[in-house]
Amino acid sequence: MTLPGSPFLAYRGPDLYLDDVRLGDLAEQHGTPLYVYSRRAMLAALAPYQRALQGRPHLICYAVKANSNLAVLQTFAQAGCGFDIVSAGELARVLAAGGSASKVVFSGVGKTRAEMATALKAGVKCFNVESTAELDVLSEVASGLGLTAHISLRVNPDVDAGTHPYISTGLKGNKFGVAHEEAVATYRRAASLPGIQVTGIDCHIGSQITEIAPYLDALDRVLDLVEAIEAAGTPVHHLDLGGGLGITYTNETPPGADQLIAELLKKIDARGHGHREVMFEPGRSLVGNAGVLLTEVMFLKPGAQKNFCVVDAAMNDLMRPALYEAYMEIVNTEQRSEVATVWDIVGPVCESGDWLGRERKLAVKPGDVLAVLSAGAYGMTMASNYNTRGRGAELMVDGAKVSLIRERETIADLYRHEKLLPSA
Ligand code: LLP
Repeated sequence: MTLPGSPFLAYRGPDLYLDDVRLGDLAEQHGTPLYVYSRRAMLAALAPYQRALQGRPHLICYAVKANSNLAVLQTFAQAGCGFDIVSAGELARVLAAGGSASKVVFSGVGKTRAEMATALKAGVKCFNVESTAELDVLSEVASGLGLTAHISLRVNPDVDAGTHPYISTGLKGNKFGVAHEEAVATYRRAASLPGIQVTGIDCHIGSQITEIAPYLDALDRVLDLVEAIEAAGTPVHHLDLGGGLGITYTNETPPGADQLIAELLKKIDARGHGHREVMFEPGRSLVGNAGVLLTEVMFLKPGAQKNFCVVDAAMNDLMRPALYEAYMEIVNTEQRSEVATVWDIVGPVCESGDWLGRERKLAVKPGDVLAVLSAGAYGMTMASNYNTRGRGAELMVDGAKVSLIRERETIADLYRHEKLLPSA
């Protein structure tokens, strides 16, 4: 059987390995649910971005929201990456992991004044500003502190990324960015405000994009704007083309990052913008296929209409199937020779939406450890404590080396901040 995504994940005999580590052993030693990531797979996913951008001014800003574990951020910081953040919390993580604020871009439609001040004092490279209202507040906060906010406007190029509506962000009806038609005027305003220094332009059209065409369309629209903005007297230094490159969950065939970037650079050069610093904000494509979620089979419930395989991971551990009806491959970490049956793989949470996979053909027995694949992105970062379930542990493997990078939450952790009412 071929597994999607990562060459670092493979069967050796009947046993599934990530790097040189047998996943069944990790489940036994650390318990389940358990997230396991491969450091090598992350660096291998970064390599084509770095190769394609070599020799020109660039910055790859890993989108922290995809997987914000400190060890993951440390891995990318050591590899020379910057970071795309959306909160002061993510900034704190980047700094705690050894990242540099001077390589951070701060995105998001709702930055608070306090977050702006924290980011200004830390010295972030750029604020990706999403509205005139935000621009005005940022100007106030920066000038109040006697500091300068370097900004790009996130423009909304109105292109359809052809992806799930919840993760498509570049269309007019989305809450994101400044409308194309208003961009030139908003740049003019930005250039006149105290405490604001225009440095770039930014767009991000969506996530899990599996084609090059929407990127090229967006780029054309962005370059049109850059030309109009500069003609109106405001120089634009860098182009930030966002993240969004998809991965293979099952049979998707996204372009490689090197192929995507080569085509984008070709257009940038052909249109005479080759001198600009180019930035990207990849999240999923750097970590998605570098991680799995391990879960133990608890009970099998064969039924008249459906067969349910109840596992110990649930929608609180991995929300993507419940939220987006996302398909994520599920395999047994120890291949069985018995005949496979069709199962719905469900968790213990009290909702019918709590499933990890539907109608999956698997040979399973209680006690088996299943691996949900491609779970390195938007897995742990979207996990919650619903049903008062502690979040699982996280491990990083590197060859045969295993590091615990986040301890499993205890039950006491879950209500540590809660208080009983004073007794009457
Ligand atoms: N930059 C900005 C401004 C973003 O909003 C995002 C993701 C990224 C970069 C990184 O995009 P990526 O390369 O990971 O596609 N929870 C959803 C995905 C939400 C993406 C939100 N924004 C999922 O599980 O599919």
